[in-house]
Amino acid sequence: MAIRKVAVLGHPVLRKVADPIPEKQITSEPIQSLIQDMVETMFEYDGRGLAAPQIHVSLQLVVMLWDFDEGVDPYLKVLINPEIEPLTQETSTVGEGCLSLPGLRGDVTRSNWIKVRALNEKGERIGFEAKSFAATVIQHECDHLVGKLYIDRMTDLTRLAFSKEYGRYLSEGTELGGGTPEA
Ligand code: NI
Repeated sequence: MAIRKVAVLGHPVLRKVADPIPEKQITSEPIQSLIQDMVETMFEYDGRGLAAPQIHVSLQLVVMLWDFDEGVDPYLKVLINPEIEPLTQETSTVGEGCLSLPGLRGDVTRSNWIKVRALNEKGERIGFEAKSFAATVIQHECDHLVGKLYIDRMTDLTRLAFSKEYGRYLSEGTELGGGTPEA
């Protein structure tokens, strides 16, 4: 296991469309090591989620800490080749942070109820629904797999700020106050 360096804004890998992982390769040693490295890197950088392109690997793989269910201990969720389908027209606006844009935060409006289909770390098909903050994090991560960053989704760049200033001047009245941890 190893902590990998995180690619930041400007690195071309963050703008590439990532390749899907062939189902049969998921349980192979290189992919399993990659998953372990991503988890270790996410924790090292205090992230909530991490997509493979953020560690310079252009594959459709996301790891995230799932701590959205009340009364359930946080656990790791691995999403491989994920697909998202919005289940509502309703949206949430959240101050998002990203490990690839360290120290910044910006408001993004996204669907607040989605259906997710993916493969997990064992290569099993999984499907689940995510709402609110969980839906935001998943959409943020899946954007990394198609070369998009949250700033591309912003409609008002006056809502982009350094985290401290965001918390001080922009968080009032927004959903989730200070915004999300970086992901
Ligand atoms: Ni991110």
